[in-house]
Amino acid sequence: MASAVDIYRFSRLESENDIKNFDCGDQDLNDFFIYKSLLFTQNLLANTLILNDTDNTVAFCSLLNDKISDIETDKNLWRKIKKDIPHRKHFRNYPAIKIGRLAVSIIYQGSGIGSEFLSTIKQLIINNNPLSAARFLTVDAYPEAIQFYIKNGFRPLLNEYRSRTMPMYFDLITLI
Ligand SMILES: CC(C)(COP(=O)(O)OP(=O)(O)OC[C@H]1O[C@@H](n2cnc3c(N)ncnc32)[C@H](O)[C@@H]1OP(=O)(O)O)[C@@H](O)C(=O)NCCC(=O)NCCS
Repeated sequence: MASAVDIYRFSRLESENDIKNFDCGDQDLNDFFIYKSLLFTQNLLANTLILNDTDNTVAFCSLLNDKISDIETDKNLWRKIKKDIPHRKHFRNYPAIKIGRLAVSIIYQGSGIGSEFLSTIKQLIINNNPLSAARFLTVDAYPEAIQFYIKNGFRPLLNEYRSRTMPMYFDLITLI
């Protein structure tokens, strides 16, 4: 079966023309995409990937550099993360790429598009990132989206919410 990424146009946001009608049901995310995403790109603050059909934006995801660090991670979990990395004693931070914002249009939610989009992005990071390494993908997940991220292989970094979101991570080495 063809995936959403084959059906819709997958690209990096480059101009205003790439921004089509979009409503994911969350005003902050809508406003970011429509009014701020291009400014973030132009100011080197975040890149936005998009899935478009002819008239609508189906999904968008903004990405920026990040790290996970021992002081912001649950102690037991940090031990577990370090065990998977050689020379673990020497590092207090590991490189990551952060999902700044991810949303699927309300018309398309719940049909697997968010998961397919996320899988494509994970593969792109692994295959097309020759300049800088990133071991983890991170996100500060909205409470209502935590199940979505768990289903897509993410785990919480903490046992509690931070500023009403849950910091979560995905280990990209599991895809190699
Ligand atoms: C969260 C979001 C990106 C998921 O994309 P999607 O295309 O709807 O997700 P999928 O169809 O791939 O869903 C896969 C799983 O995620 C979970 N899920 C998806 N949407 C959910 C929702 N609104 N509430 C709870 N769980 C949800 C379900 O467990 C689902 O599994 P199932 O199909 O076995 O039930 C999308 O619903 C969205 O944009 N929501 C509004 C904005 C938002 O919350 N963004 C996340 C910010 S951190």
